[in-house]
Amino acid sequence: MRRYSHTHIVIVGGGSGIGLATAQEALERGAQVTIVGRSKDKLQQANEKLNGSLGICQADVMQEDSLVTTFKEIGRFDHLFVSAAEGVTVPLAKSSVDQLRPTLDIKIWGALLCSKHAAKWISPGGSVTFISGLAGRRGYGGFAVAGAANAGVEALARNLAVELAPIRFNTVCAGVIDTAMLDSVFGEKREEIVAEISKKLPVGRIGSASEIADAVLFLMGNSFVTGSTLLVDGGDALV
Ligand SMILES: NC(=O)c1ccc[n+]([C@@H]2O[C@H](COP(=O)([O-])OP(=O)(O)OC[C@H]3O[C@@H](n4cnc5c(N)ncnc54)[C@H](OP(=O)(O)O)[C@@H]3O)[C@@H](O)[C@H]2O)c1
Repeated sequence: MRRYSHTHIVIVGGGSGIGLATAQEALERGAQVTIVGRSKDKLQQANEKLNGSLGICQADVMQEDSLVTTFKEIGRFDHLFVSAAEGVTVPLAKSSVDQLRPTLDIKIWGALLCSKHAAKWISPGGSVTFISGLAGRRGYGGFAVAGAANAGVEALARNLAVELAPIRFNTVCAGVIDTAMLDSVFGEKREEIVAEISKKLPVGRIGSASEIADAVLFLMGNSFVTGSTLLVDGGDALV
């Protein structure tokens, strides 16, 4: 397993779920890790869970000033993972632009603004990793805007990999992953829907946050991978 000693990894959206699992995996492999998010409580709780080993910075990816300050405060680092998103899915007929806007904005503008303001602080050999989901590749009811956001983030990575080279940009396209986001996406029917999805998947279960963390760290560590999307979905795209 690749070690990340003498490597500083910054995770935006690192206070919970996939971001936090990536922070934990990176720490276990020897990295210095800083997590970024809006809620100070969430960041502090995450840090307590990992025995106070994390650096924490409060910032909202939609506030450009706060990103400028945050990256300046963090200083030079090696790899960035942008995991921030809000999981809102609403049927189109019942939705308003105001309800749907954060889904698109946090994912797209969040990824773009983090890249813009982190770029000058990323050391040679460094990288940026985004996360997308299968709604960007196929159709699900209620996921039209989430799908556009996920497809968009993969396109951002391909384009930024050229524009901001030699910084490498990649995306992990995740299947259904067992985090609190499933509560907001599936609501009260979470258990029922997860059981149905698990039955359909070639691997017979949904994924864990640590399985995505492993993929994120692979993309950070392999210096010949840029502009790629790595599908980690338990075979969901096949069925
Ligand atoms: N779970 C899945 O099945 C799945 C599948 C495919 C892709 N994904 C993607 O994986 C990523 C992580 O999701 P997750 O399941 O780990 O959900 P999560 O636990 O809700 O993580 C999202 C994190 O983003 C942070 N965040 C949200 N808005 C932010 C903002 N404006 N600025 C800074 N931070 C912000 C949240 O913290 P604060 O609220 O404190 O800011 C939270 O810690 C998301 O991009 C999601 O779309 C998830």
